[in-house]
Amino acid sequence: MTTVHTSSIKSLPLLARGKVRDNYAVGDDRILMVASDRLSAFDVIMGEPIPGKGEILTQMALWWFDRLGSLCPNHLTGDAPESVVAPDEVEQVRGRSMLVKRLKPIPVEAVVRGYLAGSGWKEYSENQAICGVSLPSGLRNAAQLPRPIFTPAAKAAAGAHDENISYDKVVEIVGPTLAQQIRDTSIAIYEAAASIALSKGMIIADTKFEFGLDESGALILMDEVLTPDSSRYWPIEGYEAALDSGSNPPSYDKQFVRDWLEATKINGKRWDKTPPAPRLPAEVIEKTAAKYREALERLTD
Ligand SMILES: Nc1ncnc2c1ncn2[C@@H]1O[C@H](COP(=O)(O)OP(=O)(O)OP(=O)(O)O)[C@@H](O)[C@H]1O
Ligand SMILES: [Mg+2]
Repeated sequence: MTTVHTSSIKSLPLLARGKVRDNYAVGDDRILMVASDRLSAFDVIMGEPIPGKGEILTQMALWWFDRLGSLCPNHLTGDAPESVVAPDEVEQVRGRSMLVKRLKPIPVEAVVRGYLAGSGWKEYSENQAICGVSLPSGLRNAAQLPRPIFTPAAKAAAGAHDENISYDKVVEIVGPTLAQQIRDTSIAIYEAAASIALSKGMIIADTKFEFGLDESGALILMDEVLTPDSSRYWPIEGYEAALDSGSNPPSYDKQFVRDWLEATKINGKRWDKTPPAPRLPAEVIEKTAAKYREALERLTD
């Protein structure tokens, strides 16, 4: 397996490098999305790759796309990514790439929450609501919500944090019909996925979807789906204990790196979460890689 921090496909024009994916144009209607082994935490890209991560993300997203097709069409073309690069570039894309339809991205992050966690918990503690959705009082950190809620965010420019927005704001951005379709589809996909994950012993606390429009204006599910980078997965064992003690359930996302980054000191000072990030020690890299592997194995076993 080749580890790729930054891909270099010379045979295709580079469209953009995101935090994790490098996108290349394939003609004017397709994109080769190469999931690198980069890890971003607190929206800063770490200097060290996590071996296996890009491939795990891609395999997990493909596994989900395969199961969610009846709920919403997705951006996969079905063509092999290896077929559009030069022979000496195949190693860089194998297993970690998707060849997708180039869509017009909708500038809304479609977040669905089934449980209170992270920024959702923070907002709830302050307002008893998230993104304008009011919730019952007395819920604890990590508590399951009465029903999944749609808590959209505006896609931030590179380097900035996404900003939570109200449903009305989504209506303002895309119009009422599309807003409702995005909300209903997102909740339906979350519910289907959460129930499949639960049968594998994992809770999906929350997740983020991205949608685009095709040339006929149809709503298409794009980007990655239901990976540990876009979703908060909790193993069911350990969940009740965390809920009872008010702590965060152990998760398959980047919590391990985040905790290390928050605890570590460089020259006696804590990292201020601006680039460059501290160098990740080998042990942190290996533990993080193991978490990603475990999530994929558990899901697909
Ligand atoms: N089918 C598609 N058509 C057009 N753009 C897509 C498609 N699928 C995904 N994208 C875009 O490709 C990029 C994926 O890269 P990555 O996930 O690394 O970026 P990111 O850092 O999360 O995103 P960004 O910085 O753009 O918010 C995202 O900007 C996503 O919106
Ligand atoms: Mg992304």
